[in-house]
Amino acid sequence: MYSQSTDMGAIIPLSFSILLLLAVSNPTLASKDCDFPAIFNLGDSNSDTGGLSASFTPVPWPNGISYFHMPAGRYSDGRLIIDFIADSLGLPFIHAYLDSIRANFSHGANFATANSTIRRQNTTIFQGGWSPFSLDVQSGQFNQFKNRSQWAYNREGVFKELLPKGDFFSRALYTFDIGQNDITADDYLNMTAAQVSAALTDILDKFTAVVKEVYEQGGRSFWIHNTGPLGCLAYVLDPRNFTEDQLDQAGCAIPLNELAQNFNKRLNQTVVQLRKDLSLAAFTYVDVYSAKYNLFKQPEKYGFEHPLMVCCGTGGKYNFNRNARCGALIVVNGTETIVGACKDPSARINWDGVHYTEAANEWVFKQIADGAFSDPPIPLRMACHKEIDPSTS
Ligand SMILES: *[C@@H]1O[C@H](CO)[C@@H](O)[C@H](O)[C@H]1NC(C)=O
Ligand SMILES: *[C@@H]1O[C@H](CO)[C@@H](O)[C@H](O)[C@H]1NC(C)=O
Ligand SMILES: *[C@@H]1O[C@H](CO)[C@@H](O)[C@H](O)[C@H]1NC(C)=O
Ligand SMILES: *[C@@H]1O[C@H](CO)[C@@H](O)[C@H](O)[C@H]1NC(C)=O
Ligand SMILES: *[C@@H]1O[C@H](CO)[C@@H](O)[C@H](O)[C@H]1NC(C)=O
Ligand SMILES: *[C@@H]1O[C@H](CO)[C@@H](O)[C@H](O)[C@H]1NC(C)=O
Ligand SMILES: *[C@@H]1O[C@H](CO)[C@@H](O)[C@H](O)[C@H]1NC(C)=O
Ligand SMILES: *[C@@H]1O[C@H](CO)[C@@H](O)[C@H](O)[C@H]1NC(C)=O
Repeated sequence: MYSQSTDMGAIIPLSFSILLLLAVSNPTLASKDCDFPAIFNLGDSNSDTGGLSASFTPVPWPNGISYFHMPAGRYSDGRLIIDFIADSLGLPFIHAYLDSIRANFSHGANFATANSTIRRQNTTIFQGGWSPFSLDVQSGQFNQFKNRSQWAYNREGVFKELLPKGDFFSRALYTFDIGQNDITADDYLNMTAAQVSAALTDILDKFTAVVKEVYEQGGRSFWIHNTGPLGCLAYVLDPRNFTEDQLDQAGCAIPLNELAQNFNKRLNQTVVQLRKDLSLAAFTYVDVYSAKYNLFKQPEKYGFEHPLMVCCGTGGKYNFNRNARCGALIVVNGTETIVGACKDPSARINWDGVHYTEAANEWVFKQIADGAFSDPPIPLRMACHKEIDPSTS
């Protein structure tokens, strides 16, 4: 920016004061909190606060045991990363768009559902398949929400206390956490590198289309999680019987973690391109993979034990049985019982074979909140800014 320095003596004081001026007046430099009035989230079960549960089968007990003390639509014993995000921004937990009971969307809405993929899938949830609310469907729901909520808000009545103000949509934080199920939906382990690459291109093109749609609707602050270390989770480890040399020191499956990292590399490239294409928006790419993997690598250091073992499960090498999952009714020695939780979920990482415990979610949130895992390294509360303010670093 200041490279045409023929007369250094004259230019330095001037450019220095310009820099100071920029730091004070340029809204794209992170120096102060964004004061997000709302969060709109799109994603899968990692951030589903009740969408799939309200739409299909309610999440069973003992989900919710540690915090809500009842099932709360979340696949966890308590809060998810998205709950900690909302709380840290001084906002209430964001309600699932698909859950009409006690719905209060005044500070945002959550379009994520468990089992969602970026790409539409060809099998339904009734065939052991996927959520019908793929990312493009969630985006369509968001468009309807924005349009119709404003119609209702602008009429008198209770809706002013239940729906967001019109200007919240451009000032809100838009969070994304999706991709894990796209990796397991296709049998990538059997594909050639070229086939995997083609699939990822298609998946990330669809991701890009949705982000552009949200941008067209006024979204300007994007906080995008990459996908976690899939190969450390019992639901993919248990049925696949990996050989010793396919497992790393943490016991995670190398081939599956490589797929996750491959996806993440492409997601990062996608975000880099989105920054160029949508220059009015701030994009923060958050390396949740590394934060989560650190936990599997050194669980004891952070107060966790048995990292690969499932807390709420039964049987097998990982205390996980895909046919008798957390909360399922089973018969043991002639007596009906539910698949229940371990003694101390707060010391565990894996809740039910697929999802993380509240303790792990909180730990990961604390790792990522200050920007240490973000590109650019901007803290959550400043994620409306495109760059870090040089005068503060
Ligand atoms: C679903 O089926 C359509 C039509 O056969 C096909 O083009 C598409 O690739 C399939 N999608 C997935 C995710 O397999
Ligand atoms: C998600 O899909 C898998 C199979 O694709 C299924 O086994 C599992 O029960 C589904 N989870 C939920 C919460 O519906
Ligand atoms: C909102 O919905 C109405 C009724 O369906 C439609 O006529 C209008 O074009 C929509 N507005 C926007 C901005 O999408
Ligand atoms: C919805 O939540 C907001 C924020 O917590 C609150 O101010 C508002 O009163 C609530 N609406 C109703 C109808 O309770
Ligand atoms: C994938 O490959 C393995 C061995 O290479 C084979 O046993 C398995 O049946 C294949 N799976 C599919 C879905 O083709
Ligand atoms: C899993 O691997 C072990 C050891 O290689 C083998 O004995 C066992 O039969 C395998 N199980 C399945 C279901 O493939
Ligand atoms: C994302 O890609 C950019 C450009 O290639 C690179 O500079 C950056 O380090 C990458 N970030 C992460 C977290 O991988
Ligand atoms: C079931 O019965 C067997 C044999 O009596 C006993 O060893 C086992 O501990 C019992 N399991 C449970 C969960 O009670």
